[in-house]
Amino acid sequence: MTDAHFTQNRLNWDDRAAIHIKDEAGGYRLDAFLAGADNLHDTEHAEIGDVAGLRIAHLQCHFGIDTLCLARRGASCVGLDFSPNAIAGARDLQQRTGLDASFIEGNVYDARALIEGDFDMVYVTWGAIGWLPDIARWAKTAASLLKPGGRLYLLEGHPFFMQMDETAPGLRLGFDWRTPPDEPITMSTETTYTGDTAKIAHPVTYEWLHPVSEVVNAVIGAGLTLERLNEHETLAWQFAPWMVPVEGRRQMWVLPEGMPRMPLSYSIQARKPF
Ligand SMILES: C[S@@+](CC[C@H](N)C(=O)[O-])C[C@H]1O[C@@H](n2cnc3c(N)ncnc32)[C@H](O)[C@@H]1O
Repeated sequence: MTDAHFTQNRLNWDDRAAIHIKDEAGGYRLDAFLAGADNLHDTEHAEIGDVAGLRIAHLQCHFGIDTLCLARRGASCVGLDFSPNAIAGARDLQQRTGLDASFIEGNVYDARALIEGDFDMVYVTWGAIGWLPDIARWAKTAASLLKPGGRLYLLEGHPFFMQMDETAPGLRLGFDWRTPPDEPITMSTETTYTGDTAKIAHPVTYEWLHPVSEVVNAVIGAGLTLERLNEHETLAWQFAPWMVPVEGRRQMWVLPEGMPRMPLSYSIQARKPF
């Protein structure tokens, strides 16, 4: 069953990667990136610290723009993604910039077999783990890529916010707080979240909500020591049409005034013991 879910999601992400790489809506700030800018959002910029000299594995790297921003900060990076279009786009951007990064096509669960060496940091951000049915297996994979003393950095949409029905006119619960591995949420969206109007040829996706407790326990269960858990009032994409943009290093999205405040994203740092 899960192979069929991965196959369908990969087709969908291949369609999206082809649209996102053109960046016609401008959300990825591709022109600025190619002109030398560092496009990481305010949240990760504030949290990751100095990465110069680190070896970083970026899981679910999409078309590599964030991977290459980490390289621009002086890290040596490997990005992995299962979308051939995303990896082709990432390799093209690497060649155009000459930054220290390489890209591997494959399922995140196969990352240990596909990526050589151990890393100072495993980097996973913005819309990654919701595509994965088994979070304990993901955490073990991430931990297996770390050197002793290396750290996992995860920055994700908050599962409580992701429970909302994004088609409702305001905050209204639409989904259960956890998704069984073999019963994913089936979504179908004709266009992608960037605001591009191009139609997606494979609109159906399968997604999973993972409570924060499940993610934290998976990370601890994988042998990592939790150092930090933060919640944030900003999100990197427009989850619902009523969200409002805020300017920053790169555009992010917040709740409109008058709505009760709640966390829209969260981040974890966890370290592999020596
Ligand atoms: C929202 S994007 C992540 C964006 C990322 N924060 C970045 O650096 O731009 C999600 C990515 O996860 C990838 N993905 C989804 N499921 C995957 C899987 N099982 N294995 C590897 N990549 C996967 C998709 O191809 C897509 O590129």
